Amino acid sequence: MSTSILCSNTALRNSWYAVARSVDLGVAPVAVTLLGTKAVLYRSPGGVVAAPDRCPHREAPLSAGHLAEDGCLVCPYHGWAFGDDGRCRRVPSASADVPPPPRAHLVTYSCAEKYGLVWLCVGTPSGDLPAIAQEHDPGFRRINTPVEVWRTSATRMTDNFLDITHFPFVHVATFGRAQETQAPKVELESLDNGWFGYRYEVRANNSALGALASGQSVPVVERAMSSGFHLPFDVRSTITYHTGLEHVLLLLSTPIDDTTAYFTFVVWRNDDFSVSAEEIIRFDLAIGAEDKRMLEQLDGVLPLDQTTLVSVQADKCSVEWRRRLVELIEHD
Ligand code: FES
Ligand SMILES: [Fe+2]
Repeated sequence: MSTSILCSNTALRNSWYAVARSVDLGVAPVAVTLLGTKAVLYRSPGGVVAAPDRCPHREAPLSAGHLAEDGCLVCPYHGWAFGDDGRCRRVPSASADVPPPPRAHLVTYSCAEKYGLVWLCVGTPSGDLPAIAQEHDPGFRRINTPVEVWRTSATRMTDNFLDITHFPFVHVATFGRAQETQAPKVELESLDNGWFGYRYEVRANNSALGALASGQSVPVVERAMSSGFHLPFDVRSTITYHTGLEHVLLLLSTPIDDTTAYFTFVVWRNDDFSVSAEEIIRFDLAIGAEDKRMLEQLDGVLPLDQTTLVSVQADKCSVEWRRRLVELIEHD
């Protein structure tokens, strides 16, 4: 399988990906790259707009431009101005009664806002955004984290987020228990809301930072967990403690290109809101940094065929995710 498979694949280009946090997007245009395609994002009075980050005149990056008072995006080079719909509204060098050339218009991309994130599709959207029921439950609060750039493939990240056997090795400094390496037998099942994966029990070290997240002060906590995927690269991890506290994590890997990705995660919690959001996510951010450190040592895209890598029973969920991903990609 070619290493450029991700960027050029139609099915992947037709999927939705999180590219920015809503709070980080204002009227100032922002540059993002999705599947090798550079896009400009900005917030206009009508909502979030996404378009190619290339002015049709002389290819200046529109993300270096600004928003005019009338809501038009103005190119920094010769001031051509574009409306929300991508139509070129003004060419300052031309007399006002001459309409812009027909090819001066931008073909905008589909974008959406959900879960405090801006989602982008650089193809023709097919499929849904991942579903998180807790978003509509008033007993839960949502916490968003900054979007980071990881020098690894979104394929390796998704594989990692579905895998629990690295906990006693990669996460010993946060919650992993080095003395408990044996994984429970993986039984795959349809989870709720379109997620597919498995449920399991795990014992986690409960450090000072972890205690803030678990709401317990004992040295070791029991977690009832599930890990599931939604194609192509969304992972949901749920943690339930015996106290009734639930912690839901949406782990999002967005391919910038084949070997670089944006990472952001969203947390939903049914706690009493007494611990600050910053303290809650500090623990998850530390865990994410451990994964990042490991994954950035691996080269290239995760081999997607079923023969290159050696897998064991504990890898069953990742194997199934890869099988379905290949089905999606090859359906192209
Ligand atoms: S390059 Fe954008 S207006 Fe000339
Ligand atoms: Fe991990």
